[in-house]
Amino acid sequence: MSKERTFSIIKPDGVSRNLIGKIIARFESEGLFVIGAKMKQLSRHEAEGFYAVHRSRPFYAELVNSMCSGPVLLMVLEGENAILKNREIMGATNPTEAKENTIRKLFGVSIGENTVHGSDAPDTAKNEIAWFFAESDLANKQ
Ligand code: CMP
Repeated sequence: MSKERTFSIIKPDGVSRNLIGKIIARFESEGLFVIGAKMKQLSRHEAEGFYAVHRSRPFYAELVNSMCSGPVLLMVLEGENAILKNREIMGATNPTEAKENTIRKLFGVSIGENTVHGSDAPDTAKNEIAWFFAESDLANKQ
């Protein structure tokens, strides 16, 4: 096992329903540490760039609209196997397919409004963190 960083977003549907505390409590209870956090209203440019990998997908416009519909909480999480652990805590992308007690099963409204985003691999985690955070923004939890 090795200590890793991953990138997490509490999406507008999670922030607007006042779920920030419950979601962070879940991360912390499973050994993930918040080492960076920023509340932000994403611009279209930021949302489009962040999700550029999905640009050709049919849901892209809806995804960008949804991510700009209200403030989000951007976070960097650190812990043992943080990337996989966060993905397990979040559950499948589609809340109807997510396992019991995952964040998306508990709180997700639809595949578009699935409450949280998390990096899927080490290279994406690095890029996603760098999209929103400078190294100097992060508390180094050694
Ligand atoms: P996220 O983990 O943020 O990554 C891309 C997002 O696109 C995904 O969560 C969903 O919220 C959204 N999305 C909307 N429709 C789809 C779809 N049909 N398949 C995959 N992702 C979708």
